[in-house]
Amino acid sequence: MLIAEIIRAKRDGKALEAPAIRQFVNGIADGSVGDEQIGAFAMAVFLNDMNDAERIALTEAIRDSGEVLNWHDMDLPGPVIDKHSTGGVGDVVSLVLGPWVAACGGHVPMISGRGLGHTGGTLDKLESIPDYDITPSSAQFRRLVKDAGVAIIGQTGDLATADKRFYAVRDVTATVESIPLIVASILGKKLACGLDALVMDVKTGGGAFMPTHEASRELARAIATIATGAGTPTSALITDMDQVLAGSAGNAVEVAEAIAVLRGERRDSRLYRVTRALAVVMLKSGGLARDDADAGARLDKALASGAAAERFARMVAGLGGPADIVERSEHYLPKAPVVRPVFAGGSGHLAAMDTRALGMTVVELGGGRRQAGAAIDHAVGLSDIAALGERVDGERPLAFVHARSEAEAERAATSLREAMRLGEAPPPRPLVHAIVAPDGRLSEPGDQS
Ligand code: URA
Repeated sequence: MLIAEIIRAKRDGKALEAPAIRQFVNGIADGSVGDEQIGAFAMAVFLNDMNDAERIALTEAIRDSGEVLNWHDMDLPGPVIDKHSTGGVGDVVSLVLGPWVAACGGHVPMISGRGLGHTGGTLDKLESIPDYDITPSSAQFRRLVKDAGVAIIGQTGDLATADKRFYAVRDVTATVESIPLIVASILGKKLACGLDALVMDVKTGGGAFMPTHEASRELARAIATIATGAGTPTSALITDMDQVLAGSAGNAVEVAEAIAVLRGERRDSRLYRVTRALAVVMLKSGGLARDDADAGARLDKALASGAAAERFARMVAGLGGPADIVERSEHYLPKAPVVRPVFAGGSGHLAAMDTRALGMTVVELGGGRRQAGAAIDHAVGLSDIAALGERVDGERPLAFVHARSEAEAERAATSLREAMRLGEAPPPRPLVHAIVAPDGRLSEPGDQS
């Protein structure tokens, strides 16, 4: 079929057949389809949407446009399972979840990304650890996934080749915010990792990529049903991003917090609870637990015995980092020269938080990027961030700022005071808003923060 005819059909609101979609995506990957054709196609999809069969075909075509990992020849004793998040602030879940699930018998080949806009990136966080190599050889990656049960690394080789060019054109043609295109882009990359099951963490609220509950629900439902339709059973949790998830935001500060959770020290934190909720679903979908209670018991044991922390240590050492990172993280993680509390200048309950603005404060401190490829400062950020509803006063600060200089700390303090509003304590809010099963059914667990 002529490429222009494929675009015309979508422009006119027709449903495309799978072979036409695959031809188009292969043309993106091999360069035979031009940028203007990609832009026109993306706009036609943006305006006319795609039905489920088209969405599945687009996802499968992007998945197959590069290498697709295959674990069958590795004789793994457990399932290959993974989690993906739409991104947030203080979202250091992956560093806790991967080793925790590995300690329960899962194999987690997690290919992660860098920070984007106000949201942090798992790779940036991991690079706070001295000598941690995010680009191991494929053989080393596979060995680690087998032996440690988890490896969190950057993009290897050539996964979902078409996505990079497709996304770059969408970015400059106002076509990013299209559910079928977002779903195919996210899942094309994830499903290329050869997973037996996937869990998605779709964030909702002011610090999320999809801020409204309706949009988050639509995305979660689409991701679960399309991935499952493409052969990888997938559930989605819709979790709260109306406040920073961890008690810290930055790179080294978040790694320190993740290690504390793995050491069993933060059992009441939001980070712990969201990670556990995701892990429960992962264990069930990977066939490692019968039900919620069974999954919870296995997870509690893996944390209490130190097995989860030990998997993290094995992963770090296997990728070139220090073997005693769990015991001596403060010795290895970089520290900012200026660390100081920021007080609200009054007292009251924390009534609201502009989570996106807090993420941007970290970027301004140098902990994120203003331009792609720029260097970042792993030491800076925020810690001990007050939670919504918490009382702040002359004793309890809004947070601690970790900065390169006094002047930068002062600037961040001003942004922080602007981003955090005092008033009446807000009513408790769900931490996990909803869980979407692989068949698209939605339930509300009622877990309050
Ligand atoms: N993240 C992706 O990887 N792709 C999208 O289209 C949007 C967010």
